[in-house]
Order: sequence, then C-alpha cells, then structure tokens
Amino acid sequence: MSSRRIFRPLLALLLISAAGVVSTAKAQTQQPQTPDTMEARVQACAACHGTHGQGTDNDYFPRLAGKPADYLYNQLQNFREGRRKYPPMNYLVTYLSDDYLHQIAAYFSQQRPPYPSPARPTVSADTIARGQDIVLHGDASRQIPACAACHGKALTGMEPAIPGLVGLHSDYISAQLGAWRSGSRHAIAPDCMHEIATRLTDDDVNAVASWLSTQTAPQNPVPAPARSMKTPLACGSEPQ
Ligand code: HEC
Ligand code: HEC
Repeated sequence: MSSRRIFRPLLALLLISAAGVVSTAKAQTQQPQTPDTMEARVQACAACHGTHGQGTDNDYFPRLAGKPADYLYNQLQNFREGRRKYPPMNYLVTYLSDDYLHQIAAYFSQQRPPYPSPARPTVSADTIARGQDIVLHGDASRQIPACAACHGKALTGMEPAIPGLVGLHSDYISAQLGAWRSGSRHAIAPDCMHEIATRLTDDDVNAVASWLSTQTAPQNPVPAPARSMKTPLACGSEPQ
C-alpha cells in the first residue's frame, strides 16, 4: 500500500479522534452525572466502528460485532501494548484496564447488527477463483493451509479467539496480512498467522482478500464452538 493511501486517512483519523477526546472531556465537565453505561463508553468507538460494531463504509475500519470475545480482548491488549500499531487505537486504549477491555470485548462480541452487502468483485474472475481456492483448500505445494480450516467453512471464526472473515473490506484484509508479513502485527506466540501470511505472495493476498469481501454472511453468523476444528498449525490464542 502506498504511503499516501495510508497517510491521508490516518491524518483524518487523528483529527477525528482528537475531536472526540475534546468533546468527551467537555461533556464530562459540563455533565458530571452522565451515567457510565456501556452505551456511553462505546460512543468513543462509534465514529469508526459503528454504534453496534457493524463497521462503516470506510475500507479500513473493521467490523467488530460477533467476533469471539477473547479475540477482541486480545486485540485491545495488542493495541495497548504495541503488538499492533494504529495510532488512534493505540492511544484510545492506553489507559484502559484489563477489566474494562474485557467488558468492551464482551459487549461487541454479543452485538448482531446486519452485515453490509457483499462487495462486487473489482478483480478478474481468475483472481476471484484463485482466492476461493486458497481460502477453501489452501495450496499444499506451498504449505499454505486452507483458511477455512481455522476460520470455518462459514468464515465466522471459532471460539475462543479466531475471528470471522465475513463482513470485512478487501483493503482491511490485505492490510492485516501485509502487517503480519512486515512484522508490524503480532499475535500470541506461536503466531500462526505470521507463518501463513509469509507464505502468501502479493497476488495471493489480493486474491483471498478480494474473494472474502464478496462473500455473504450465513443466516446464523456465530463463531463455531471451541475445538470444533483441529487447527492445522498451532496458534497461541487457541487451546490445544
Ligand atoms: C479513529 C477511528 C477509530 C476509533 C475511534 C476506534 N477504532 Fe478501533 N480500529 C480502528 C482501525 C482503523 C482498526 C484497524 C487498525 C489496524 O490494525 O490496522 C481498529 C481495530 C480495532 C480492533 C481490532 C479488530 C479486529 O478485527 O482485529 C478492535 C477490537 C477495536 N478497534 C476496538 C475499538 C474500540 C473498543 C474502540 C472504542 C474504545 C475503538 N476501536 C475506537 C479505528 C478506530
Ligand atoms: C492455523 C489456523 C489459521 C489458519 C489456517 C488461518 N488463520 Fe487467519 N487467524 C488465525 C488466528 C488464531 C487469528 C487471530 C490472530 C490474533 O489473535 O491476532 C487469525 C486472524 C486472521 C485475520 C485478522 C482478522 C481481523 O479482523 O483483523 C485475517 C485477515 C486472517 N486471519 C486471514 C487468514 C487467511 C486469508 C488465511 C488463509 C490464507 C488464514 N487466515 C488462515 C488462525 C488461522
């Protein structure tokens, strides 16, 4: 991704988040008795993730709703401790306690807002077919496991800590795979996604991200039960 594509939205976001902090501070001085409900707390997240964590039209802001609570909690900790880097997120969670992060993660994991309409493909039919093949079957000759082996055939993830991949924009997915390849995103060791992402080429990343973004969420978009799939590689976030 070019630095201009990252930098311009980033600047806008820093402004949004700075404005949010100022207005929150003002609201607190003017109305000290504002109730401290979860709805009030997650207002700080709504501009970028939607009130119910459904995501927004912005290609880079991910859906949070319905992802397993431990997955969301791990990410909030990752941002707080610098294992994932995105300045507005790092900043927002800097002073939040583990207990608070658990509550926020539980809140978004229980939200069930509708999914956006699937994206229309903007790449060739061959690329889409290649993406589908890698997600559903992997590529044994290059030791790439099927993404569905861990994220589920329905792509809704698995409890306690594997996220669903439906309802995400293609740019967000490729940026995350890129972050694992370049070492700016880390998960609990052994970091299976680092292993997998480094086996993918740029074309593979484009193909899987494009195909995933065109998929429709299933009727009942809940993560599969814990241990219902045997993961082909060990992942630090998953009980073995
Ligand atoms: C200024 C916009 C912005 C605000 C405000 C914001 N986020 Fe985020 N959030 C993002 C972006 C962008 C990412 C993806 C960053 C990356 O990894 O590149 C993200 C990622 C996340 C993730 C990881 C999602 C995943 O699927 O891995 C969680 C969890 C999260 N945010 C929770 C929150 C919570 C809780 C709040 C409110 C306290 C919040 N965010 C406020 C923009 C924002
Ligand atoms: C061995 C199990 C496993 C396989 C196979 C796997 N993943 Fe993952 N994936 C995970 C785990 C675990 C996480 C959560 C990592 C964390 O805690 O940050 C994850 C997270 C992700 C995320 C981050 C989602 C978000 O909301 O930020 C993306 C994108 C992703 N995987 C894409 C893929 C793709 C594409 C493939 C196939 C090429 C794949 N994964 C194969 C286990 C797996």
